[in-house]
Amino acid sequence: MDRRNFLGDLSRHAAICAAVPTVERLSRRLRFAENPFALGVASGDPHATGGVLWTRLASRPLDPDWGMDGVRTPVVWEVAEDDQFGRIVQRGRYMAAPELGYSVHVDVGGLLPDRWYFYRFRVSDIASPTGRLRTTPAEGALTPLRFAFASCQHYETGLFTAYQHMAAEELDLVAHLGDYIYEYAGINGRVRKHDGFECRSLDDYRRRYAQYKLDPLLQAAHARAPWVVTWDDHEVDNNYAGEIGENVYESSEQMRARRAAGYQAWWEHQPVRVPRAASWADLSIRRSLEWGALAKFWVMDTRQFRSDQPCGDGNQRVPCGKWGDPGATVLGESQERWLVDGIGQSSARWQVLTQQIMFAPETTEPKPGDSIYMDVWSGYPKARDRLLTAIGERAAGRTVVLTGDIHSNYVQDVRLGFDRPDRPIIATEFVGTSISSEGDGADRSPFFPLEAEAKRPEVRWHNHRRGYVSCTVTPTDWRADFQLVDYVSRPGAPKVRGASWRCEHGRPGVTKV
Ligand SMILES: [Fe+2]
Repeated sequence: MDRRNFLGDLSRHAAICAAVPTVERLSRRLRFAENPFALGVASGDPHATGGVLWTRLASRPLDPDWGMDGVRTPVVWEVAEDDQFGRIVQRGRYMAAPELGYSVHVDVGGLLPDRWYFYRFRVSDIASPTGRLRTTPAEGALTPLRFAFASCQHYETGLFTAYQHMAAEELDLVAHLGDYIYEYAGINGRVRKHDGFECRSLDDYRRRYAQYKLDPLLQAAHARAPWVVTWDDHEVDNNYAGEIGENVYESSEQMRARRAAGYQAWWEHQPVRVPRAASWADLSIRRSLEWGALAKFWVMDTRQFRSDQPCGDGNQRVPCGKWGDPGATVLGESQERWLVDGIGQSSARWQVLTQQIMFAPETTEPKPGDSIYMDVWSGYPKARDRLLTAIGERAAGRTVVLTGDIHSNYVQDVRLGFDRPDRPIIATEFVGTSISSEGDGADRSPFFPLEAEAKRPEVRWHNHRRGYVSCTVTPTDWRADFQLVDYVSRPGAPKVRGASWRCEHGRPGVTKV
């Protein structure tokens, strides 16, 4: 709603209320002197008969009180078959509470499978922007899917131009693989600046999410299609592992408090269906999403349950410390069992590991003295071997690994044993670049120089520009289109297709389109 319409609505509202000028009504007019839907709307975690509808009331999102008055506020929500809301199929009321940041999570059900719906919220007579929700196909259906995945949107290092292009595509779903916010303090001289210091408290993280959510291009991409969101490290702290932070002087108690703040703020700002835990620090977000019988998305968390990077973070020469220890874990025992059992039991055509960190090795057949980056799966080779064995036995030729985190595109063959190039290919890894992290980018990553290419035959394609990946999935085919923007330091970069790759169901390996 533009300001003039909004003020028009407000004066109408004021005229209606004028007959009964109570203190409550006067305070309500004051509260919503500005649009309470400044953070936009979103839908997420769809299923065959519904999904989650999200907004968060805040008329001045960066103010300490968010432009709200601390009182619980009723929000009306509506779901319709048409964007004019002529055929409303569901309507309800939700009480937005200040202790949950005035976030709204409506878990709507009773809809028809495989359909687009429109939704909006209202407070008083102020309507939110309209968003779209698509239900998934019915159980057993092999309806094709077109979705995009994205990650890593550092606000300071670039504009969210990629989302402008994503919002213009006809997509059924968007998967976000984490680094939705960055926790760092604001730094001068960049494209944009974070408001405030490094995030530690709930208020810090809320303000950071609010700053990101105010971006109109991000809002447009959310309004356009349902999202399935997981997190990576920067939603709390760079490269944290379990209760161990980046800064060694931060105690596990301090890290738990920080996790509680970061996790709660994440929940308040995302259209997700995850069960609440006794403590926010223990919020478990792993879940799965089925697209009929075509695809099952395993939404994973590679941060909260992992053991510490085996011999310190960063690049380390192997062998060292607990590198190669079977006890080292990325997913934790419970999540690993859930995933391994799940892919064995699922009859969906495609198993989709919706996760964060690079699965393939930096070095094929690592030798003593080789340098290995410890924050990715290569730092935990035994844990990766267990998962590879499970994929090989249960879902070879029908598994696709989606990865974010490292701000570069890679297309990679996944072999049964990464350290044995003679082993069979069992899956494909599509690593998606960042939306904006690391700035404008280049065709080649400084971390993957030309001379490294010969040592990594499993890398079939690489590119270091910004963007996202759109995928078209059918029962027989998975096509990935790598969508790039040449710059994010100024607005308006056109979308360029960097490359397209496809894999065939039942025949592991990729071919260039
Ligand atoms: Fe990142």
